[in-house]
Amino acid sequence: MSKIIMVANQKGGVGKTTVSFELSAIYAQNGFKVLTIDLDGQRDFSKYAKADFKDKPTIRTILWAIKKIVDELDETDDYDTQHILGENLEYLNPDYDVITNAIQHSDEGFDFIASSQYLDNASIEFHDVGDITLLKCLMKYLGEYDYIFLDCAPARSSILQMAYVASNYCLIVAEADPFSIGGVFELAKDIKSFNKKDIANCYILGVIVNKDDATNGQIDSYKELCEKGQKYGILPFETTINRSCAATDAKKAYMSITYYSKQSRENKRKSKSILSAFDLLYSEINHKIFEIEEV
Ligand SMILES: Nc1ncnc2c1ncn2[C@@H]1O[C@H](COP(=O)(O)OP(=O)(O)OP(=O)(O)O)[C@@H](O)[C@H]1O
Ligand SMILES: [Mg+2]
Repeated sequence: MSKIIMVANQKGGVGKTTVSFELSAIYAQNGFKVLTIDLDGQRDFSKYAKADFKDKPTIRTILWAIKKIVDELDETDDYDTQHILGENLEYLNPDYDVITNAIQHSDEGFDFIASSQYLDNASIEFHDVGDITLLKCLMKYLGEYDYIFLDCAPARSSILQMAYVASNYCLIVAEADPFSIGGVFELAKDIKSFNKKDIANCYILGVIVNKDDATNGQIDSYKELCEKGQKYGILPFETTINRSCAATDAKKAYMSITYYSKQSRENKRKSKSILSAFDLLYSEINHKIFEIEEV
């Protein structure tokens, strides 16, 4: 069975997409079958993975197709062209395998499903009570993957709630600053309340502190994260990801840092510290999952 891991924080720009992209590449490189779903209307992950936006259905089309099956809507009903504005109507033809056709292959060895620029309207589109399970329904069709990562948007939308319901695990990405820390506990509270109501069963693996440059302020914030985290039962990973120009350079080159580091000696030198941090993080995540699943 796939392990479904959402990567989230309602705070923007903390490194969710960078972490999702790098972990997707690292897990694939370690021989696992990986699929990542871009759940952000900004489509950053899809762009880095060089997505085909022209001929491939997006996650939004898939959610509509599943909704159509679940609701047994007929096309004359409220399921009309207004809802699929901007998408190819052909994709919703019952003979068209929208899920298989949406899966794209990256140069990095992992597969992905691209996002749609219209996904940010999701809160208006997917507002029925049952819609919260749509993403979970999709997972049933993706059982061949060992790991499925969900790169979430910095918004508290119905898509984020779908991710809570669909995921086994959550990785929270944060910067060690007071604003980012606030976002961590908001998200943790949300997930816990979904779990308590039995709507979700999502275990928070921990907080990945990103862009760490070991300033005094960051060290204090990390300490605060540990102290507050004790109360909530969520702790930061011991490994923090350092701030590195390799992260921004790799992004400009539409590559993971792993792939970027292999392009030249200079890239390798630049990427060394951040790649060893990601390696340690990979081990820490696997160890945590192993401990949880062993019980
Ligand atoms: N460790 C790092 N060192 C330096 N720059 C980084 C690092 N991690 C991420 N960045 C840069 O920070 C910016 C935001 O990163 P990213 O897009 O991954 O964040 P995000 O949380 O996904 O943002 P959004 O909330 O908009 O989806 C990018 O320009 C990225 O290159
Ligand atoms: Mg992002």
